[in-house]
Order: sequence, then C-alpha cells, then structure tokens
Amino acid sequence: MNNEAVGVEIRDLVKTFPAFDDKKGEVYAANHVTLSVQPGELVTLLGPSGCGKTTLLRMVAGFLMPTSGEIFIGNREVSKIPPNKRNVGMMFQSYALFPHMTVYDNVAYGLKLKHMGKTEIRERVKGILQLMQIENYASRFPNEISGGQQQRVALARAVITEPNVLLFDEPLSNLDAKLREYMREELRKIQKRVGITSLYVTHDQSEAMAISDKVIIMRSGKIEQAGTAMEIYARPKNQFVAGFIGKANFVRPDSVLSLSGGKAEVELLGRRMTIDASEECRNGEPCVVMIRPEDIKISPEGKFKARIISKAYFGQYIRHFLDIAGQEIEQMDFTQSNAALQVGDEIAVNLVTDSLRLLPLDDTEET
Ligand SMILES: Nc1ncnc2c1ncn2[C@@H]1O[C@H](COP(=O)(O)OP(=O)(O)O)[C@@H](O)[C@H]1O
Ligand SMILES: [Mg+2]
Repeated sequence: MNNEAVGVEIRDLVKTFPAFDDKKGEVYAANHVTLSVQPGELVTLLGPSGCGKTTLLRMVAGFLMPTSGEIFIGNREVSKIPPNKRNVGMMFQSYALFPHMTVYDNVAYGLKLKHMGKTEIRERVKGILQLMQIENYASRFPNEISGGQQQRVALARAVITEPNVLLFDEPLSNLDAKLREYMREELRKIQKRVGITSLYVTHDQSEAMAISDKVIIMRSGKIEQAGTAMEIYARPKNQFVAGFIGKANFVRPDSVLSLSGGKAEVELLGRRMTIDASEECRNGEPCVVMIRPEDIKISPEGKFKARIISKAYFGQYIRHFLDIAGQEIEQMDFTQSNAALQVGDEIAVNLVTDSLRLLPLDDTEET
C-alpha cells in the first residue's frame, strides 16, 4: 500500500515534567533517547509502567512538545510540526470507535476529512475491509461486533489514510489473553503486508517478542538495550534487561577470578568455570551470574548436586525449584523424561555454561 516506506529517527530526545508536590525538580520521562526505526520495520518499546513509553510515542505523534532533541520522519524534522501534518496513524489501548457510525463509516471517516471523492473512498474502504477480513461487517455498528473485530476496525481506520508511520500504544491490553495472542499475530501479518513503519508500545514481553523486528528495553526514561528479541534474551547487558525479557535466576558467584574481553572466570555454586560477561561488568564491582531456567539440565552424570524443593506441571514443561549448594534456583524441564521425580529427591544437574552470563549487580529498588 505504501509506495515508499520511510524510517523514524529520534535523536537525543528529552522530555521533563515538573516533579510531584513533595519532590523538587523534574522528572525525566525521556532522558536523552536516541533510536531509529528502519523503513517498514516494527520496533517495540518495552518497559515497566511509568518508564516513558507513552511520552515518547506522543512526542512522535506531535501531541507533546519535546524539551529538547530531534524527531525525523523520513528526512523531515517534525518536532515543531503539528500532529495533523505529520502523516502519522495511531492506535491506542482504548481504540474508541465512533459508536453511532457503522464499521464502514468509521473506516471512511479519515478519508472524508481529506475531502476525497465518494467513489475513491468506496474503493479504498472496500479494499482495507477485505485486507482486515471484516468486509462482512461493514454495515454493523461497533457494539454489534466482537472485541477482536473492533480491533481490526480500529486498525483499518488507522492505516486507511496511508500514514508514513503507525504508532501503537498497548493496543491489545483491553482484550482477554487468548484473543490478545491471536490479534498480535494478525496485527503483525497486516503490518508486514502493508509494509508500514511501526513503533509499538507494550509492557508485555511475550507480545514484544512475538511481533517485533527489534525490541527496545526502557527504564526510567532511558534506553537500556536495543536489538532483536534473540540478541537481548541471549546477551542482556544487565540484570534489569535479563529479568525483564524472559525468566532468569541471578546467583552471586563465590568469586570472580578474572574478567576481560567479554569473558570471566568464576567460581559458581562451588565449581570453577569460564562464562560470557557483559561489557558493563567492572573488575572489583559486585556482579551476578544469569542462569536461565532452561539452562539447567537434570542428568544422572550432572556435576552439581541438587534437591527438589517444589515441582509444578505446566504441560510443555515441568518447573522445579532446586536447592543447589544452598541456593534456591528455578529450573524448567522441557524433556518430560523427569516427570517421575518427586519433591525431596536428591538429583544431579549440569549447567549449559555457554548460556550463562556475568552481569553487574542491580542494586536499584525500582523495576
Ligand atoms: N503530563 C504529565 N505531567 C507530569 N508527569 C507526567 C506526565 N505524563 C507523564 N508523566 C510522568 O512521566 C513518566 C513516564 O510516563 P509514561 O510515558 O506515561 O510511561 P509509560 O507509558 O511507560 O507507562 C512517569 O513518571 C509519569 O508519571
Ligand atoms: Mg503508557
């Protein structure tokens, strides 16, 4: 649909708000944010509530003025251009369709505002309703269709004017879990088919991993890490990122014997081993080892003694909490071959040392 997709580039963007009554100074909702979205790409901003995701999106849309910094859509610097001149489409959590208008009229609305001819409007709306597979509901009102269908109408409405960029602010968070999973796949398919550059906000890590070309992890107005879901999962820079994407045990090593060039020799759970280290680790500063639950393998030849503290069955996997060298560690077993193990059993495990990672200890309170 878009002949030539354009990218988005944000350079050193800052947005401050006055702090609340009891505090002095300012809150940095965006704290020197630099990022780029390539043409046709879907990039997700992922982070806990209050980290500045919506603020960032609203500055791209033009509803909020940055304190400083630049926003480029294509090669146009837009930070002083009003929202309706930016050619940006938006889809929010409360997608608020017009209740008194049919599906057709809801979708056609943006084109009517542009004074497009009737015949062309009809053609375009028809096309987009087909693309979204809602052409059979054209004459219904929003309260006569399901939540998922309403979502499609909202998306149709956002893309019909052929915006350069589509912004999503937690668009699926009002749907129940099953529909949310289904809709995120649909949304991704449509985004790819239309080839529209998208910036997508969510606090749901699995949603981010499912739909994104690139994920950007945010905390307190700052970007912590950007990359593909796989890069971030396998090589998080710090404990916050590791804990926010996927599950992880964080175990203090008994000692760090050496640290250089992205490798560390550590003593962990009573054994010496060489593991990867984040570039943020510093000699002499406290650190932790990330152990993903799936990187602990139960095996009769295992080098570590463990005792099963608790056990739960989740279908695709069994989760054990293990006592290893006095530490409580979560393990996920996808093999099903250990289903007969019982709480209290003494077993042996191995660690997938290639997947372990030394990270700087995160001693901040906030998440
Ligand atoms: N209009 C505003 N006035 C004052 N503070 C605000 C305003 N909007 C957002 N904030 C603050 O900016 C920070 C980021 O908020 P927001 O962008 O809504 O986060 P998110 O969307 O990630 O939950 C929060 O600390 C929030 O309280
Ligand atoms: Mg928000």
